[in-house]
Amino acid sequence: MGFERDESGAALLGGVRLAALFDDPSSFGVDGAPLSTPAYVYDLDAIAGEARALREAFGGLPHLVAFAIKANSAGPIVRALAAEGAGADVVSGGELALALACGIPPEDVVYSGVAKQAAELDRAIGAGPRGILSIQAESIEELTRIDERARAAGRRARVSLRINPGVEADTHAYIATGHDEAKFGIPKAEIGLAVERIQSCSNVELVGVSSHIGSQLTTTDAYIQAARMLLTIASSCDVAMTSTGRPALTLVDFGGGFGIDYGQGCDAHPADFARALAVEVRRAGRESCRTLIEPGRSLVGSHGVLCAGVVMQKRAKPNDDERTWLIVDAGMNDLLRPALYHALHRIEPLERAADAGGLPMRVVGPVCESSDDFGTHVLPQPPPRRVVIRDAGAYGFTMASEYNGRALPTEVFLRGGRVDAVIRPRGVDAWVKERLG
Ligand code: LLP
Repeated sequence: MGFERDESGAALLGGVRLAALFDDPSSFGVDGAPLSTPAYVYDLDAIAGEARALREAFGGLPHLVAFAIKANSAGPIVRALAAEGAGADVVSGGELALALACGIPPEDVVYSGVAKQAAELDRAIGAGPRGILSIQAESIEELTRIDERARAAGRRARVSLRINPGVEADTHAYIATGHDEAKFGIPKAEIGLAVERIQSCSNVELVGVSSHIGSQLTTTDAYIQAARMLLTIASSCDVAMTSTGRPALTLVDFGGGFGIDYGQGCDAHPADFARALAVEVRRAGRESCRTLIEPGRSLVGSHGVLCAGVVMQKRAKPNDDERTWLIVDAGMNDLLRPALYHALHRIEPLERAADAGGLPMRVVGPVCESSDDFGTHVLPQPPPRRVVIRDAGAYGFTMASEYNGRALPTEVFLRGGRVDAVIRPRGVDAWVKERLG
């Protein structure tokens, strides 16, 4: 269902009138304090549907959709994805613990990250009867560390080599990770050395190769280029392993990065990546291997919104539209993407105003930084009481902070046209108590 508008022009998510959530939360069975802005609202049905569609696109190829928890770590979302058969891609001991607590089996968890701490490795190696599915080793040095931790635990850790394929992804520089200058992964030129190191590690078992070239990819080109490279590397790893009596690889992990349409268009859909990948995997004769992907944004991004209240309109100069500020109660601490990447999220009235005409206004938050600016948007006059910031389901709450002594935003989870769960922030009083030390 996703985000839409009813005949009166009111914004709906998952079939629920967003304004009604705030005006009359008790009619949704929400008890306790009224719901107030800023608040994230998510459509669990649409999120589950996104995972289902992606899985179907593999057309019977053995696969695992490992949800990148960093995009959204809310329990109701992770559990809804787990119910669709998704696993998890985690980048910290905290995310690993969360994935397991949401019922994702260790066998369906992969762990990436350039600086895994000893305690985090111990958690990954010690999970379940055999540890997690794969620790993605990001350097040769890390292989030795994993081997040591596995030896201490009396286990064999399953690892993949995270390869830096040296591919330029057409995306924002801050989220491109597969090029030569990036800190991520093992450079192609060092793969031979990495395989040699594995041969000398008795507590490490090489099960796969992985890569992740960047996020918000709007075409499949660079992704498929990296995928072909990864499949070739997988074949040479197989040769190196089997020639020394070790087992061949059992998984190839192509990473995430599938883009969404933030209103400026997105040529490729997540299913296009999966279909193109299935073709490459079959062409390389690797159907018997498990194909992994690590999508984050594409599963949740379009199915979450940030609702904000309008505090006031501030006119710096008469008749200067660019300097008509619309000050809202959500700021860069709630949604960092505009301040950090100059990302533009569509901002619209929560209730359609009677007069559909509008004025361009700079929508800004309360935080004491000039980058606390959501960009210029056309909004009705007089301004609406509340606005909806769209496509905020990924990297929204997970990047939020209590900067400026602001409470984290509330989160509301919808399912079947009802409120399924609410996560309320700990609030400013608890923040004050903690800061007192
Ligand atoms: N796998 C690895 C190893 C990653 O580093 C990432 C994202 C993903 C998977 C998931 O990528 P996705 O499917 O979500 O594109 N905060 C930024 C995005 C940072 C992405 C970091 N890594 C943003 O708001 O655009």
